[in-house]
Amino acid sequence: MTTITETGHRASSGEAAQVLTRVVAPTIGMGVISRRPRMMALAQRLQMDWAATHTLRRLRARNGDAPLFMRPAGRSIAIVLAESDVERILVREADRFTPADAEEHAALRHFPPHGSLSSRGTNRARQREYHEAALETGRATHHLGATFQAVTEHEARGLGELAVTTGGLDWWDFDEAWWRAARTVVFGAGAHRDRRLTELLNRLRADADWAFLHHLRPERRRRFEQALRAHLRRAEPGSLAAALPPDGDVDPAAQVPHWLFALDAAAIVAYRALALLATHSAQRDTVLAELAGNSETVSPYLRACVEESARLWPTTPMVLRDSVGETVWDGASVPSGTGFLIYTPFFHRDETMREHAHEFAPQSWLDEDAPRRPGTIPFSAGPGRCPGENLVLLLTTSMLRGLLRQCRFAVDTPVHLDPAQPLPMTCDNFGLAFRVSAR
Ligand code: HEM
Repeated sequence: MTTITETGHRASSGEAAQVLTRVVAPTIGMGVISRRPRMMALAQRLQMDWAATHTLRRLRARNGDAPLFMRPAGRSIAIVLAESDVERILVREADRFTPADAEEHAALRHFPPHGSLSSRGTNRARQREYHEAALETGRATHHLGATFQAVTEHEARGLGELAVTTGGLDWWDFDEAWWRAARTVVFGAGAHRDRRLTELLNRLRADADWAFLHHLRPERRRRFEQALRAHLRRAEPGSLAAALPPDGDVDPAAQVPHWLFALDAAAIVAYRALALLATHSAQRDTVLAELAGNSETVSPYLRACVEESARLWPTTPMVLRDSVGETVWDGASVPSGTGFLIYTPFFHRDETMREHAHEFAPQSWLDEDAPRRPGTIPFSAGPGRCPGENLVLLLTTSMLRGLLRQCRFAVDTPVHLDPAQPLPMTCDNFGLAFRVSAR
């Protein structure tokens, strides 16, 4: 059998350079684990995600939609260009691809070891079960959902009052309030004020972004782990720490950091959803009507608005898988250990595949008849799908409910979220600010 690099699916050196400079480097520059404010501002100004998707579209038009193989710095990489291949890799043949790819492993070594994304085989399966049990992945609402909702709405009320008093809201105030809620949900009221934990986490996340390049900082890691273990030991009733399953083989201090850094993505998605609702009056009116008649924990339309925010600006722009063992593509063999790169904005914003690709269209998450797009994967898909998805949607909708019920928001920054225009491909959450008045 021919190898894949002997077929037409091999990128030329010029094409490989384009992928590296226009897709991979800018995404890493913005920060994969932790976003960098200055880079995000620059990326928004240059609309870097547009250049990235445009590059992949040109490659697909020229070479077809089979994966495009390249070998930068000796690493075998395949760029995924077809939705059906996204489904094949993540869902249909998921057992032939592992999320424990080399880059992820290098990034996550900055945290306490043995998190589920950086391990393989039996360990990975045990850890995945552990996350699913604690986060109650299979349930629409966590059994502590009402408590989590009350905690988050309480923070939203405080934030709303502050915003009305000052007449404005920026990312940093939103982030502070979000983290107070997030720490309380994960560890209980004893962690409500522990900003130091979040600061240490953020520094480790910034190190993790440099993956292979950054040396490890054992002292920083030790301080973080010490604080984390102290919070976990308390196992406060009503917190996720108290819901951790007893499993002697899985160390919670190795798993919970993943929740903490993922909670940052949730804050970004919620804040951008707020901006979408501030600028799109029809969708906002639908949300307000839903909130007026609803005291339940679930607000389906608002939930769809958050999902739509994650589609328009995915917080996991690169989903990576390494092939385990030899795989065959179009009759040609692909070596084991090849990294398959799924650049999600390319699929989420593909106007050749989906209607309303560049519009804020929450309804598409609710229409049972709308065609399911296998490339729309803000929470990934298959066995590696985010086990925290329902929890995220509960917390983000609670935050937004609390804010929208008491305040009116108008975007106060030069980002163009105009319903009559295609939405920008890059949205800098750090630079977003609102004018706020009481409702
Ligand atoms: C808007 C917020 C979030 C988004 C968009 C998101 C998205 C994702 C995605 C795309 C993956 C899979 C990556 C892959 O397939 O390689 C993932 C994995 C994961 N997420 Fe989330 N996530 C979010 C928040 C959360 C939260 C708040 C938690 C926990 C409290 C969480 C827990 C996890 C865990 C444990 C994994 C690893 C799963 C595994 O190893 O199989 N996520 N998330």
